[in-house]
Amino acid sequence: MKIGSPLSNTATKVMLLGCGELGKEVIIALQRFGVEVIGVDRYKNAPGHQVAHRAYVIDMTDGAALKALVEKEKPDYIVPEIEAIATDMLAEIEAEQLATVIPTARATQLTMNREGIRCLAAEELGLATSKYAFAESFDELQAAINNGIGYPCIVKPVMSSSGKGQSTIHNESDTQTAWEYAIQGGRVATTRIIVEQMIHFDYEITLLTVRSLNANGDIETSYCEPIGHIQQQGDYVESWQPQQMSETALTKAKHIAKQVTDNLGGCGLFGVELFIQGDNVLFSEVSPRPHDTGMVTMATQSQNEFELHARAILGLPVSTTLHTPGASAVIYGELEKKGLQFNGIEKALSIPQTDLRLFGKPESFMRRRMGVALCYHETTEHARENAKKAAGLVTTE
Ligand SMILES: Nc1ncnc2c1ncn2[C@@H]1O[C@H](COP(=O)(O)OP(=O)(O)O)[C@@H](O)[C@H]1O
Ligand SMILES: [Mg+2]
Repeated sequence: MKIGSPLSNTATKVMLLGCGELGKEVIIALQRFGVEVIGVDRYKNAPGHQVAHRAYVIDMTDGAALKALVEKEKPDYIVPEIEAIATDMLAEIEAEQLATVIPTARATQLTMNREGIRCLAAEELGLATSKYAFAESFDELQAAINNGIGYPCIVKPVMSSSGKGQSTIHNESDTQTAWEYAIQGGRVATTRIIVEQMIHFDYEITLLTVRSLNANGDIETSYCEPIGHIQQQGDYVESWQPQQMSETALTKAKHIAKQVTDNLGGCGLFGVELFIQGDNVLFSEVSPRPHDTGMVTMATQSQNEFELHARAILGLPVSTTLHTPGASAVIYGELEKKGLQFNGIEKALSIPQTDLRLFGKPESFMRRRMGVALCYHETTEHARENAKKAAGLVTTE
């Protein structure tokens, strides 16, 4: 494994597709290894743009635009941070050996659509999941519910993230609203949705799973301690690590994560989302990249999820060791505004063992994630309390 010097003809070059708060941290981790980083997003001055060597604004769902930029910049690695990318073009780029797609182009294709990853997990790998069906009309949706999904159930556009277009159906009178909400909330114009039986889980986790090379050049799989989290309206508000689990459930969780990530292949960090009921573990979904709930690792691990991703991408060994228990709590914009200002930062940071990340997004929306509070402590309970307190002390204007 060799790393060259940035901005020279020996540079090791990485192109980030997506420069949000997660991409920004991956870029910082890569910069620390002297990697030359090209940041790409759909809007100007995205968080990752601000720390990359060069920044581009393109429509990443436009395959031709993507290919042209790759041909111009000639990156060694392409690292997707988001799902809304022309993944067929990534497959073409990979096939033509223009760059290595992280973890693999196929992984990005399968996970950009809920149908791809769900069918792989449930039908090909035989993993336990919620009952599910796909529908393309109101009638098909109602029929799927009547024929086995039952109530309550959850409807989601097949292509969406962060809870967009997602809602719960409690009885027949909710179906029409849920259908309309889903087809308006999808990332691309499609009427295809997934309807899932509602799982009454005890808790849900993200199991960060890393596929990386060891010193012999063999691929190894390692797992971070499980991360517990709370979601509101399909979006994460709070996470902590480690989540206490029974030995049996943890073993099953790792086994599921191994099967899924082995199948997706390549090198990198994955966020495997699982629902836990007693000793039972259900697969929910997977991100072939750092996960928002994994921001807690910036407080808890000596190599956080972004550093693990960077190392895995570059073919370097990793350590997933937990340093201390900790927690994260999201800071929302609470305002629709450009040039947001944050107050109360000094109060938040006066809470011991607490830290903040303010992402530097140029524009705020009510429910846009603008920052995160991080805290480490001897217990996750205390860490959660302090992280929430710190997040609450930060106000916006
Ligand atoms: N079948 C389900 N049963 C119970 N809760 C669910 C189910 N599907 C989703 N959820 C809840 O909604 C959250 C977001 O759903 P998810 O499928 O992960 O969508 P996204 O891709 O937007 O993250 C989950 O983390 C979980 O809290
Ligand atoms: Mg999710």
